[in-house]
Amino acid sequence: MPILTVTNLAGATRDVTASAHGSVMEAIRGAGFDELAALCGGCLSCATCHVIVHPDDFARLAPMSADENDLLDGSDERTPTSRLSCQIPFTEALSGLRVTIAKDG
Ligand code: FES
Repeated sequence: MPILTVTNLAGATRDVTASAHGSVMEAIRGAGFDELAALCGGCLSCATCHVIVHPDDFARLAPMSADENDLLDGSDERTPTSRLSCQIPFTEALSGLRVTIAKDG
C-alpha cells in the first residue's frame, strides 16, 4: 500500500498507509486526522480538505481542475502548493507524498 506522510496542525509528522483506491483526503481521515474536516465528503464544495503539498512533490500531482482552483481562491491560507486533498486520487505512484494539513483544512 502507498505511504503518505502527513503533518498535522501541531507540526507533528506521521507516515500512514492507505488503500490506493481512495483519495488523499480519505487516506488522511482514515488515519485518524479528524482536524481535516472534509465537510462535504469529497464533493468539491467545501474546501475544508485543504492541504499544503511539499514543494518537491507538487509536480507529481495531476493539474487541478478549474473548480478546485476556484474553491482554493476563497482560502486565506492558500499557498503555491495548495490542493484540495479530496481531488487527489491516492495511487501507488504517489507513495511518499508529503502533505501538511492547512489551518482551514
Ligand atoms: S472534502 Fe469538500 S472540497 Fe474536499
